[in-house]
Amino acid sequence: MKEIFLKSQITIFIFDSGLGGITIYNYIKNIFFNTNIIYLLDNKYFPYGNKSKNFILQRLIKILKKISNSYNISLAILACNTASVSSLPQIKKYFNFPIIGVTPVINLAIQKTKNNVIGFLATNTTLKNSKIQKKINFLNKKYIIKTISSSKLVFLAEKKLLGYKIIIDEIKKIFLSWFTLKIFPDTIILGCTHFPLIINELKTIFPKNISFLDSKKNILLKLKKIINYNEIISSKKKNIVFYTKTNKFINKIKFFFLKKGFTIISKLKI
Ligand code: DGL
Repeated sequence: MKEIFLKSQITIFIFDSGLGGITIYNYIKNIFFNTNIIYLLDNKYFPYGNKSKNFILQRLIKILKKISNSYNISLAILACNTASVSSLPQIKKYFNFPIIGVTPVINLAIQKTKNNVIGFLATNTTLKNSKIQKKINFLNKKYIIKTISSSKLVFLAEKKLLGYKIIIDEIKKIFLSWFTLKIFPDTIILGCTHFPLIINELKTIFPKNISFLDSKKNILLKLKKIINYNEIISSKKKNIVFYTKTNKFINKIKFFFLKKGFTIISKLKI
């Protein structure tokens, strides 16, 4: 069922633990070219990949309550696989606006693979999630699913986005166990929104012709189900960024978002 947006001030809320959600923002920003966008990076608790499911659910409830008290949120997008698998669908019960999220595209990988060996890169919390585990165990009967979780990779992706040089060998080390595999995955699920940021680096260390599958397209499908694009009413557009901690990268982060056209960048005390 489509929910029609009729509020005059439409605000789309995009969430990630860090900067990975920008890969989703870049993909969908044209749909929301005339609506307010709030991007929140919860850098106080970054990375989420080593937090428990319950911690993440409670934290998201707190953040969404605070934001929706001050802004008329029309839609929240969890641009973070870890946050989505940890909090959906439970979190929907707490709010009256739609909440959607990116999740690893395991089914798509099954359709794509030809050699039946699939690589699955995600955070520890995502891979440990009981629903994801169940799915992997089930699929392991027919396919070989090789999983790797690495918060190092998440940090490297953030560093690259902020303009720091990253060393390819550091990435290679993370995948050492894959280089001894008899058959290398021909399809790799990028089950974390940070990983598309380092896709070129991954391509240089892995064999050629691998399909890398991220969650961008599946969020578009979810959006299509709830939005009637013709009904999005233009408003005086504002792009706002909230961060939750001042750290040594904060000036770089601010500069990054200013360049992207965000005009208000401020700390949310939470
Ligand atoms: N970007 C997040 C994801 O998609 C995770 C990064 C983190 O560990 O905080 O899973």
